[in-house]
Amino acid sequence: MQSLSHIILYILQILNMERKVQSARRLESIFWHLASHGVPKSLHCLCLKLAEEYAVNAMARSRLPPPEFVSRLTDPSFHHVVLLTDNVLAASVAISSTIKSSFSPKKMVFHVVTDKKTYTPMHAWFALNPINSAAMEVKGLHQYDWSHEVNLGVKEMLEIHHLIWSHKYHDLKEEDFEYVTGHERKLEILSPSCTSLMNHLRMYIPELFPDLKKVVFLDDDIVVQRDLSSLWEMDLNGKVVGAVVDSWCGLDCCPGRKYKDYFNFTNSIISSKLDYDRCGWLYGMNIFDLEAWRNSNITATYHQWLNLNLNTGLGLWNPGALPPALIAFEDHVQPIDPLWHVAGLGYRFPKVDLQMLEGAAAIHFSGPAKPWLEIGQAEVRRLWAIHVNFSDEFVSKCRITG
Ligand SMILES: *[C@@H]1O[C@H](CO)[C@@H](O)[C@H](O)[C@H]1NC(C)=O
Ligand SMILES: *[C@@H]1O[C@H](CO)[C@@H](O)[C@H](O)[C@H]1NC(C)=O
Ligand SMILES: *[C@@H]1O[C@H](CO)[C@@H](O)[C@H](O)[C@H]1NC(C)=O
Repeated sequence: MQSLSHIILYILQILNMERKVQSARRLESIFWHLASHGVPKSLHCLCLKLAEEYAVNAMARSRLPPPEFVSRLTDPSFHHVVLLTDNVLAASVAISSTIKSSFSPKKMVFHVVTDKKTYTPMHAWFALNPINSAAMEVKGLHQYDWSHEVNLGVKEMLEIHHLIWSHKYHDLKEEDFEYVTGHERKLEILSPSCTSLMNHLRMYIPELFPDLKKVVFLDDDIVVQRDLSSLWEMDLNGKVVGAVVDSWCGLDCCPGRKYKDYFNFTNSIISSKLDYDRCGWLYGMNIFDLEAWRNSNITATYHQWLNLNLNTGLGLWNPGALPPALIAFEDHVQPIDPLWHVAGLGYRFPKVDLQMLEGAAAIHFSGPAKPWLEIGQAEVRRLWAIHVNFSDEFVSKCRITG
């Protein structure tokens, strides 16, 4: 992974500087962030073992969904849930928690899209652990036959996001490290999700599912705790996406982050268009009206802004998929009840209390401390770990522990 060496270099620079500052607390924070990079050995092991199983065991290659369920994949009377992920364990938790909380799993269809290298382990997992009564599809990106235009769009999107990321990294190196306030946020910018292919593909959901009219989108670091049918049936008032916008945390508090945390307000293109103090809506547990999306200019606007950023020196926003999406989806967001989606559980000091989490329909480990890493707060992590089947052969062979 090309970015890992950058990250290590950056961290060494900070360590060098920290020696002067002598701050144990900062050092601890750096190691905490360092632990959030890279894929743990146990997850890597799980992928390898499942890929082996796919090769040697016909059961692991059995059709998903079975032939009698295939027609459900495009049937609009079913509830379609979409995940874009290269993490088998995470996908299994998101899906099994959704099923467990569902009043009518029979009505559900899960669509997992993954990259080429994760396709066989992902398929093997869900073929060996069939989810009762719900239909399940696993698709690799290599199985898509997109038009030239879509391929070019995806390529351009990934290239510009990568350039934005490299530019930011370059900036960090040049910076005067004597002044370190806020370096936690900078470390976060270097996180793997900023450069991940699967993470950016969310802008192409209408093209990934050309036959669907509506989907619930789940990030893979989500645990679902409530039945999702009323989200599915919600009236979006002609908007494209249903998302948590308002706060569950009180006045002067955003459910996620403010625009000033995403955008460069020193730049007049940004400051003339956006409101510094506005709360960003939460991405990661949403309902999308794909027909409304296809009839909008959202994807085109997204690309316009990517190109504008490219042509003005790459400094408009911090790396990540969300900032340009906040602009592109402007006026297309229908606010939903804040308890549908409580985010931020992956931050070092999540600003949520456990009681409130219990009432949430989906809890989201956004932030660096993913629950499959062992750096999160134990009691928050437990809410995820209870959905892992530790007696599964592959999970226990790979020493994945609660
Ligand atoms: C999309 O953009 C084009 C050109 O900018 C414009 O003519 C059209 O009205 C827009 N469509 C919608 C639905 O906003
Ligand atoms: C923010 O925008 C200003 C004005 O264009 C630019 O000089 C600066 O480099 C940008 N900051 C970052 C971090 O890109
Ligand atoms: C957990 O895995 C074991 C061993 O494969 C299996 O027998 C059991 O049914 C699984 N439990 C659940 C809840 O899936």
